[in-house]
Amino acid sequence: MKWSISARNLWFSYDGRTWVLRGVSLEVKPGEVVVVMGPTGCGKTTLLLLLAGLLKPSKGEVYYNSKPLQSLLPSIKRYIGFLFQDPDDQLFNPSVYDEIAFSLRTLGLGEDKIRERVHSIARTLGLTSVLKRQPYRLSVGEKKKVALASILVYDPSILFLDEPTANLDYSTTVFIEKLIVEAKSKGKTVIIASHDLDFTLRIADKIYVLVNGSIASEHKPVELFSKSKLVGYGLKPTSIVEVVEELRLDKSMVLEIIRRLKQ
Ligand SMILES: Nc1ncnc2c1ncn2[C@@H]1O[C@H](COP(=O)(O)OP(=O)(O)OP(=O)(O)O)[C@@H](O)[C@H]1O
Ligand SMILES: [Mg+2]
Repeated sequence: MKWSISARNLWFSYDGRTWVLRGVSLEVKPGEVVVVMGPTGCGKTTLLLLLAGLLKPSKGEVYYNSKPLQSLLPSIKRYIGFLFQDPDDQLFNPSVYDEIAFSLRTLGLGEDKIRERVHSIARTLGLTSVLKRQPYRLSVGEKKKVALASILVYDPSILFLDEPTANLDYSTTVFIEKLIVEAKSKGKTVIIASHDLDFTLRIADKIYVLVNGSIASEHKPVELFSKSKLVGYGLKPTSIVEVVEELRLDKSMVLEIIRRLKQ
């Protein structure tokens, strides 16, 4: 099943007094990779939680294939995979094996099938040697990989990835980029919150910049090759952006090259 997701005029407050989101609207098509960027505390995580139905908007509505998300809950949850920014919010089982197996047990798969799937995803992510460990004792990067495995194991059609590259080594970052490209080619819907500009430029089809709880702008990646624009939004320009500007290189060509280098 393929899913389009849209948000209409979302408002949200945690305490009933301060607005964290102020009238956010956006559109994500199936097979599209959308990244939400913006300065620390601008509301990226909150927006992803609302889009995934983990928080309810104070005003406004989220739609999946034009149907209100609230009317599809809770059955829609099996199609959604949400990678939390802080893996400690995600992990609660006594062992890594149980953590990865959890969703499959909920779906009622037999233990033989579960063992096969858990070992397969653990091999892919280099987690085989930690399967018996307690998740809360792992390093931050290992925890993030376990959280990722616990989602990928049930093959969701909609992926929410909150700061997926934070605290991860090079090979896991490359794995995540390949995973996103593969998800896109299968028509999955991918929504990401990220501070990582180089990563975003490589994988995004569309970038929403969120400032103070409102969408400040919508961009194609090539349009964010601009130091002044980035600084204006409170985002950190990376050296690739500065080099492209300084040498007046063709932005589309550079983008094509850096995308190809990673695939
Ligand atoms: N559970 C909560 N209760 C009250 N306020 C919260 C809660 N979670 C987040 N906030 C506040 O809401 C605002 C937006 O937080 P959010 O985590 O969505 O931002 P963010 O853009 O994801 O930040 P970061 O870049 O640091 O991940 C912040 O001011 C934050 O302090
Ligand atoms: Mg966040």
